[in-house]
Order: sequence, then C-alpha cells, then structure tokens
Amino acid sequence: MKVIDSTAALRELIGDWKRSGLSVGFVPTMGNLHDGHLKLVKRAKAHNDKVIVSIFVNPMQFGKNEDLDAYPRTIEQDKAKLVAEGTDAVFLPSVADMYPAGLDAQTFVEVPGISDVLCGASRPGHFRGVATVVSKLFNMVQPDDAFFGEKDFQQLAVIRTMARDLSMAVTIHGVPTERETSGLAMSSRNGYLSEEEKATASEIYQAMQRMKLAIEKGNKNFDELEASTVADLEEKGFRNDYVKVVNASTFMPASATDAHLVIVVALFMGKTRLIDNIQVHV
Ligand code: PAF
Repeated sequence: MKVIDSTAALRELIGDWKRSGLSVGFVPTMGNLHDGHLKLVKRAKAHNDKVIVSIFVNPMQFGKNEDLDAYPRTIEQDKAKLVAEGTDAVFLPSVADMYPAGLDAQTFVEVPGISDVLCGASRPGHFRGVATVVSKLFNMVQPDDAFFGEKDFQQLAVIRTMARDLSMAVTIHGVPTERETSGLAMSSRNGYLSEEEKATASEIYQAMQRMKLAIEKGNKNFDELEASTVADLEEKGFRNDYVKVVNASTFMPASATDAHLVIVVALFMGKTRLIDNIQVHV
C-alpha cells in the first residue's frame, strides 16, 4: 500500500492510474477504522480498479466545545487494517495541506436547507466543514466513485446534494450501516463508552426497531411515537438531542402521505453523542 502525505505525490499517483485507464474508488475517513469503514473499502474494491482511503481528522467540522482533541488517532493500526483489505493507497494530508491560509480564511462549501436541521441545528457549521473538506478531497483525489456510510444519513444527503449542485464528476455510493451483534451502530465514538454504557447504547437500535414496526403497522402519529421513544430512552439513562421521523429526501418532519421515511436519532450517553437511523418504506 502506498502511503501518500503530499498533494504533489497524490497527483502523480492518481495521474498514473488515470493514464492507465484505471477507475479510482475513494473512501474518505477520519481514521480509527472499524468494520464499518472496512465495508466501504470492500465495496470500493468490488467497484473500482484502484482504491484510495484518506485519513484526516477535519478540524473544520468540529464545534468549539466538541471532541477534536480527544478524537481517537490510531494511524498505525489503521494502516495495518487497510493493508489487510488490499487497499492501494492511503492519503494522510496535514491540517496545513488542507487549510493553508488557516480555517478562518478558508473558502467554504455550504449546502443550504438540509444542512440546517437535525445534526446541522445541533452542531452549527458541522456540515459546512464536511462539505468543504469532502469537496477539497474530491478535487485532490479526482475519484470516479466515493463511498460513505449510511450511518451518517444526513451527511450522505448533504454530500449527494453538493455533488449534484456543483456538477462533480463523481458517483456517490451509500453503504448500509455495520452493526455490533447487539445492534449498536459501529462508530469511532463507541470507543468513548464503557462496556456497561455500550450495552445500554444498544437500546437505541431496539427503540428505532419498535418505532419502525409501529409505523409499518399504520401508526402515523409521529409526534407521539417520538415523544414516547424519548421518554423510554431518557428512562434508560440517555440525554435526548433529537428523535425524529422525517421525509428521507427533504429531512422535513414526516407527513402521513410520505412513502420513504427515516427515523433519525441523536442521543448522549454521558458525554458521548451517538447518532443512528433506520429507513422505513410504507
Ligand atoms: O464521516 C466521516 O468520517 C467524515 O465526516 C468525513 C466524510 C470523512 C469528512 O471529514
């Protein structure tokens, strides 16, 4: 596996691949790789001739009081996992490479509407940071295909909208969430949880499943479903950020006539903010 830490070396490698007529699959990550990330790599390998993964903990998508400094950095383990998957290259840009003029002077990409609700409302500026870094990475890597987890369902929608609106020549692929056997969605932030908290955190998936079943059986009283799920999860020790049933395209509150819904949740277990979602077709 080639380890690339400069934009010049990246351009040379991608140029060689493209001149040889090879398609490039790209998996952007913030590292601390788990099976969810490796599933993205597997998908990229099945779809493309060459696969490149980036690891960059993007300061622009963290709020002032969030976990940028504590975010787990496990680069050697990550590299070993990528080698085992047969990844062709890993790109490790520095903050100075990505933001040469500093974060405050950086040109940014903002996807309106969809970036302002749910995680966008709870984490102001978060999706601006995501859209900006992903568009920069796309410009650097020039991938044919890029792969993102559906666990970050709203992020995936922001990236799809950005790629469409800015006519980016990349196909965006969403890959279903990888879960522990308990149902807990895999996430780098699960590493912040104790074993006991992890066991409790799996209640999120059970609660979403109960909501899904109720909706499939015809319950369209979404407000009541949301409120009873919040009460149930608060009782189990979570602090609520949001539990919502929304239209899967617009992320606006679901209406009784919507056919494709998504139950989206963000809950705190101690200081750890966990997000998850589950789609419902009615
Ligand atoms: O999902 C992530 O890990 C990050 O938000 C991403 C897409 C790599 C951008 O920093």
